Amino acid sequence: MNFNIALIPGDGIGPEVTGAAIRVLDKLSKRFGHKINYKEVDAGGISIDKYGAPLTKEALEECKASDSVLLGAVGGPKWDNIPGIRPEQALLGLRGGMGLYANLRPVILFEELKQSSPLKDEIIKKGLDILIVRELTGGIYFGESGRNGDSAYDTEKYSRYEIERVIGKGIDAALLRNKKITLVDKANILESSRLWREVAREMLAEYPQITLDFMYVDNASMQLIRDPSQFDVIVTSNMFGDILSDEASMLTGSIGMLPSASLGDSKTGMYEPIHGSAPDIAGKNTANPLATILSAAMMFKFSFELEEEACAIESAVKNALSQGCRTGDIAESSHKISSTAEMTKAVCDNI
Ligand code: IPM
Ligand code: MG
Repeated sequence: MNFNIALIPGDGIGPEVTGAAIRVLDKLSKRFGHKINYKEVDAGGISIDKYGAPLTKEALEECKASDSVLLGAVGGPKWDNIPGIRPEQALLGLRGGMGLYANLRPVILFEELKQSSPLKDEIIKKGLDILIVRELTGGIYFGESGRNGDSAYDTEKYSRYEIERVIGKGIDAALLRNKKITLVDKANILESSRLWREVAREMLAEYPQITLDFMYVDNASMQLIRDPSQFDVIVTSNMFGDILSDEASMLTGSIGMLPSASLGDSKTGMYEPIHGSAPDIAGKNTANPLATILSAAMMFKFSFELEEEACAIESAVKNALSQGCRTGDIAESSHKISSTAEMTKAVCDNI
């Protein structure tokens, strides 16, 4: 088959990790007889440098017209002090502009990386396989914000429609998994959280096979460490999902391992690692490319509906790890540390 991918390398380690993913995709296309065309698109700091804005209209249109978007990371200290402009606005512009309201962040601990998880063996031995479904185009990220004299404000606001569609994605996922949804919120304080609960109860009434639990976000952040095996699918708001997914990523050994898929109503999705642009290690050939490579696997699963290709990438990652290949973030003292390029080659060789 023929695919058109909008490729957004972005800033910092973004070009290195997307470059790694492309090498893996090239190998995969050869094996499965696909043809992938890449259209490179600027977003983030690099776009500020070139066009004075983090995301141009043309860039957004390119992405919308593609079969899917692969993004590295955006941001860096270089663009931290420009009044009114931030590279991260590119991410919000893409998510909002493409209608990608559901962000799927699978938290999986590879057997090979058990030692890298900070959790004790007896906690981790029950396994770790959680899917965080984060709302991505609403809430406090997109609500009204501003300054009023000496005060500043941001608004958490959700409509029933916004809640319904993301819970719908959570239901789709739960049906294919262990059929348990934990809605994470702050319903003891926030009115918007109480609306989330109301909508969830109504929707889940139609799915008696799915267990629905509610959990306050402060408790959830504790439970993730105390006993992560109690979770199957976590559905939550934009801000809580952002925070919990960073926390959960560490349970897998490194934030460098976690991929994500941002989905809306069409097949065109955006795929990116959950980590940032890590300017401190940019250009050093040390970044862990696996989160981006695994994001490419999610692209095959969700945008192209080619499960076998997705599995081929995931198995190749697993095999590279079991052969002992480790970037610095997931290495133990017994490992020789691999560079980004060496890890990428190991994955390619296993495709
Ligand atoms: C993420 C990131 C972004 C977010 C930032 C960079 C705007 O942390 O994708 O999790 O908060 O959504
Ligand atoms: Mg984040």
